[in-house]
Amino acid sequence: MGHTKSAAPDPDGPIGLFDSGVGGGTVLRHIRRLLPHEDILYLADQAHCPYGARPATEVRALATANAQWLLGQGAKLIVVACNTASAVALHRLREQFPGVPFVGMVPPLKPAAQYTRTGVVGVLATPTTLHGELLQDVVRQWAAGLTVVSRVGHGLVELVEDGQLDGPEVQACLRRHLDWLLAAGADTVVLGCTHYPYLLPVIRRLVGPSVTVLEAGEAVARQVQRVLEAQRLLREPKGQTGQIRYYTTGDPTHLARLVRMLGLPPGTVAGIHLTTAEAPRGMGN
Ligand code: DGL
Repeated sequence: MGHTKSAAPDPDGPIGLFDSGVGGGTVLRHIRRLLPHEDILYLADQAHCPYGARPATEVRALATANAQWLLGQGAKLIVVACNTASAVALHRLREQFPGVPFVGMVPPLKPAAQYTRTGVVGVLATPTTLHGELLQDVVRQWAAGLTVVSRVGHGLVELVEDGQLDGPEVQACLRRHLDWLLAAGADTVVLGCTHYPYLLPVIRRLVGPSVTVLEAGEAVARQVQRVLEAQRLLREPKGQTGQIRYYTTGDPTHLARLVRMLGLPPGTVAGIHLTTAEAPRGMGN
């Protein structure tokens, strides 16, 4: 592919994250806590949300457009803060943009293998993540002796994007998915979509204390720190906390409202149009 980066990454450049919507905020908040003086650019591709039901080829094209845009804004590292895009596009992004450090998401099966006593681990994710190549690799590597039962979290991304984190509809939707996983014998539930950790308080309430629920946000933030350290790209602390800029391909007023409702770190919010030729057109919801 013909994408190359013109300049070497700059330690003073921002960390870029993208997701189909606000899901990557559950990763951003851990990065902010761990690396408070880094500037952060967050791209929510809300015009194309949800990614989970789209064919892999479309998600790949959208991921390329998002990465291209973040690099154009000077991002020194890109976090694919979306399990769905990581599942189908991470390898390709690394090929398309050689020299750019990418950190992706995988459902946290490695810690799940340590927690489970029944040997049955439940994975809640989008269909694209559950069928993608990355999950199979992770299962082979970390969960070979375990029974992994997977469930598509239909409806959950839409509820979070609508700002609904609790209430009868959220509880009913979660109950359907969680009851199914628990009935299959899971004593450990892995959240394989970055939108789901916003629902952790309700999930924990519904499954009770005997079930472990795991998310990957903190581990991914630590991986970002490790990669920046290894590549000498950590920003020198200059006393001040970094700036956060949120962008959306959808409605910036809605994103600004969600940033507040979800308790994400404050920042500026603006709308953008992705003009990259590879971004599919006419698919906005
Ligand atoms: N937050 C995303 C993920 O981690 C995307 C969900 C979607 O857009 O379907 O999979």
